[in-house]
Amino acid sequence: MLVLGVESSCDETGLALYDTERGLLAHALHSQIAMHQEYGGVVPELASRDHIRRAIPLLRQTLADAHVQAQEIDAIAYTQGPGLAGALLVGASVACGLGLALDKPVLGIHHLEGHLLSPLLASKPPRFPFIALLVSGGHTQLMRVDGVGRYELLGETLDDAAGEAFDKSAKLLGLGYPGGPAISRLAEFGDPAAYQLPRPMLHSKNLDFSFSGLKTAVLTVVKQHGSSSANICEQDKANIARGFVDAIVDVLVAKCMTALKQTNLKRLVIAGGVGANAQLRAALDAAAAKRRYEVFYPELQFCTDNGAMIAFAGAMRLREQPDAARKEYGFGVRPR
Ligand code: KG4
Ligand code: ZN
Repeated sequence: MLVLGVESSCDETGLALYDTERGLLAHALHSQIAMHQEYGGVVPELASRDHIRRAIPLLRQTLADAHVQAQEIDAIAYTQGPGLAGALLVGASVACGLGLALDKPVLGIHHLEGHLLSPLLASKPPRFPFIALLVSGGHTQLMRVDGVGRYELLGETLDDAAGEAFDKSAKLLGLGYPGGPAISRLAEFGDPAAYQLPRPMLHSKNLDFSFSGLKTAVLTVVKQHGSSSANICEQDKANIARGFVDAIVDVLVAKCMTALKQTNLKRLVIAGGVGANAQLRAALDAAAAKRRYEVFYPELQFCTDNGAMIAFAGAMRLREQPDAARKEYGFGVRPR
C-alpha cells in the first residue's frame, strides 16, 4: 500500500510517500524558518500563504524522486491537527482535492501521533510497548505506547511546552527564532556552575511537567544584568544558556526514568523537535545505560515536523484499520 503524507501544521511544508512493503520512497520538505525569523516567531497568515506556494511543487518533487505516478497512490494522509488553523487548512485542502481528483481515499492524522511513531521509521525501530517522551514546540507529554492507536497519557506539561521554554528563553537572550538549536549550541560554551536555575516539579511524584517558572528564572537573571540581553557579555550568555539547558534536561531525564520505573517498561522513545537536542540525547543515553534501558530517537531530519511521519502514521493506521481512509472529501481541521 502506497500512502502520500501531507504535513502543514505550522512552519514546515512536508510531502512524503511511504510504501508498506518498500518503506519510505521519498520525502520533500520546505522550512519557513528564514521567512519568520525577522518577526521573532511564526506569523500564521504568512505561514498559510507559503504552504499554498510550496505544496504542489513539493508534491511533484516527491512523486518524481520516488518514480511514482500520482495514480499509483493508494491513500492520502494529512495532518488534521493540532496546529495553526489556516496552515492546517492548506494541507487538508491539498490532500482532499487530490483525493477527489484521483478518486483515492483520504484520512486525517493527529500531528502528535506522527511524531510519536516517527522513531519507527529508523532502521532499528523499537518494539512495542514503550514509553514515549513527546517534546515539541507545542507539547510535552509522557505516553505509554502499546501499539498503533493504543496510547495512554501518563503526564504532560501544566503550562509551557519544552520547546516553548527553549524558544522563549532563547528570545530573552537575544538569540532569535527558533531558539532551541541556538541556545543549545551556546550552552556548550557555558560554565555549568555559574547559574543554578530551578528544576520545576523534579521531585513531584507524578509525571507532569511545568516550565514557565524556568523561563521566568531566565528572565530574572537577564534583568539582573540591566534592561536587555544586549548588556550581557557573550560568556555570561553562554553561562545562562548552560544553566537553562542543564535544568530542563535534568527534569526531562528524571521524569522519563520515573515513567519507565513506574510502568516496568524497558524501552524509551523520544519524539518531537526538542528530541534533536544534543545535551538531552547525551543525558538520556547515560541515564538509560546505567539502568539497562534502551533509548530510541528518530533520525534528526524526522525530529522536527515533516511529511514522512504523517505518511508513515497513515500507513500504520490503515494496516490496523483498512477503512480508516474514506472517499469523503469534505474536510475540517482541528487546530486544538
Ligand atoms: O516538533 P517541532 O518541529 O514542531 C512542533 O510540533 O512544535 O518542534 C519545534 C520545537 C521548537 O520549539 C524548537 O526550538 C525545538 O523544537 N528544537 C530544539 C532543537 N531543535 C528544535 N530544541 C532544543 N534543541 C534543539 N536542537
Ligand atoms: Zn510537530
